[in-house]
Amino acid sequence: ANITVQANESKAISDKLIGIFFEDINYAADGGIYAELVQNRGFEYQPTDRKNDPNWHSKTAWKTTNNDVSFAIETASPIHENNKHYAVLTVNKVGAGLQNEGFDGISLKANAKYDFSVFAKAIDGKDARLKIRLLDEHGTVYGETTTGALTENWKKHEAVLVSKGDVSNGRLEIIPQAEGKIALDMVSLFPQETFNGRKNGLRRDLAQVLADIKPRFVRFPGGCVAHGQGIENIYHWKNTIGPLEARKPQRNLWGYHQSMGLGYYEYFQFCADIGAAPMPIVAAGVPCQNSEKCDHPIGGQQGGIPLEDMGAYVQDILDLIEWANGDPKTNKWAKMRADAGHPEPFNLKYIGVGNEDLISEVFIERFQMIFDTIKEKYPDIVVIGTSGPWSEGSDYERGWEVATDLGVPMIDEHYYQTPGWYIHNQDFYDRYDRSKAKVYVGEYAAHLPNRATNIETALTEALHLINIERNADMVSMTSYAPLLAKEKRTQWSPDLIYFNNDEIKPTVGYYVQKLFGVHAGNEYFANQIELNHADEAVRKRVACSVVKDGESGDIIIRLANLLPVGVSSKVTLDGLLTETAKATKMVLSGQPDDDKAQPVTAEITVEKDWAYEIPPYSFSVIRVSNP
Ligand code: AHR
Repeated sequence: ANITVQANESKAISDKLIGIFFEDINYAADGGIYAELVQNRGFEYQPTDRKNDPNWHSKTAWKTTNNDVSFAIETASPIHENNKHYAVLTVNKVGAGLQNEGFDGISLKANAKYDFSVFAKAIDGKDARLKIRLLDEHGTVYGETTTGALTENWKKHEAVLVSKGDVSNGRLEIIPQAEGKIALDMVSLFPQETFNGRKNGLRRDLAQVLADIKPRFVRFPGGCVAHGQGIENIYHWKNTIGPLEARKPQRNLWGYHQSMGLGYYEYFQFCADIGAAPMPIVAAGVPCQNSEKCDHPIGGQQGGIPLEDMGAYVQDILDLIEWANGDPKTNKWAKMRADAGHPEPFNLKYIGVGNEDLISEVFIERFQMIFDTIKEKYPDIVVIGTSGPWSEGSDYERGWEVATDLGVPMIDEHYYQTPGWYIHNQDFYDRYDRSKAKVYVGEYAAHLPNRATNIETALTEALHLINIERNADMVSMTSYAPLLAKEKRTQWSPDLIYFNNDEIKPTVGYYVQKLFGVHAGNEYFANQIELNHADEAVRKRVACSVVKDGESGDIIIRLANLLPVGVSSKVTLDGLLTETAKATKMVLSGQPDDDKAQPVTAEITVEKDWAYEIPPYSFSVIRVSNP
């Protein structure tokens, strides 16, 4: 192939092209990136979290050690009204207590320190202390400590434990040291080593693998979780900030429970820690209306927040902007942010309103109320509207029409399509009208019929991102979805990163995201590919994009080859390169069903007429150092 890069035909492109989509699906939050090791710490699980599953309740993940103790759940005098349930233990013989099994066990590391805390009270006034132990599944003790004496009123007790060894299926045990009745709530165990050392923080290994993508933004809390299943299930950011014991847990529509320990403060802090722009998505005053997918009991147009309540709902969104960006001296929400530990603003610039909503009158009316108010009061905030998912016959066209009429500056579109779709729709964004809104591709992935993720899907996604990069004057942001999935706790596949309590398993597609995120550019150079083959289907399987990173001056060349054969190429870089330059070559390749491939890196030199054999089934990124 002859690939000619036009140095004099360049355009500025988005510097926020690669971001991440975080949704609490597949146990991404509790039991996932949120580092809490105790499951159901607040005794708030309810059968309604899981379609009235009788095996899912306040005692789930807890058990008594033997018959010398009885375990009840009460609600008469909780620590906080948002956290109604607590455990009451009646100990008949000292030595008996309660065990928590964690999320599929508790993973402990040798010599690591763990912060334990619990709210407790002695109901019958007896001066009990609590022995706290870390155990393996056979009951061997790996760490032990004792709290101070319990008092008659709720009091938080804290202690540090050290594990004397590695345990992958551990337990936490609480043994009251006096007979009688005690109450417990918010039983917590956190590794001290969290991402960036944050209290109430994120699992270090998982957060790091996300940070390694160098995402320029983080979208949260969903997906469907953002708009919820029914009005009562809409995600309200105010329920997720402040002291953990006062946060309002909620049913997760993916069939489990959200403790909200990972709440808006933690999301924003993570963004600040990794230098990514926060992108909260709020419901557009309507919950998920796709009754088939979301099993919504009402469905359709009746699903909106009543109009008389919309004023308060819009105010909540304005309060979010103040909470994130406002001055703590003059605004009470900003003061809450400062009191929580972040006096500097979080620099919120993007807010998504709605997620894949049915573009009904109910939606439009509520969306407009929110959009117009934000636009008037905070003109610098970019509101991202929703087109609904792209597919034949979907609401996508209508979503664009409405957003265009209202003057929405950016639109979130979603699609999960086959590799063939991506190959045959490479001009998807070339066809978009530049005078309309910018695009945020908020959810996409290549889906095979068996939902596998491998070289075939990864190369398809690389091809799609190459095509998007050519259009990144208009497509401002993209995020693959979903991001995280805990093994054996997965409701959706494929996902970008799989994990269990001990291991992180990035997919092949993860490396595509990372190759784009780490090696991003802000100037795009046009290129032409001449591939001497009669069949267009063959020609379509080789693609190139060349960008420049303005900060370093480096040129980044990307080449995708979806053919089973190598392609001998001459890449002409006239005007970009005068003499031979040093470069780093990163190549991801393998057979289409290879689900283990990782990029291989080599140092090379590149000249202005550069010969490159593009390997079969491969994605190459060549970073030429400041030529
Ligand atoms: O990414 C998984 C789900 O797909 C999201 O929650 C939803 O927005 C979409 O339907």
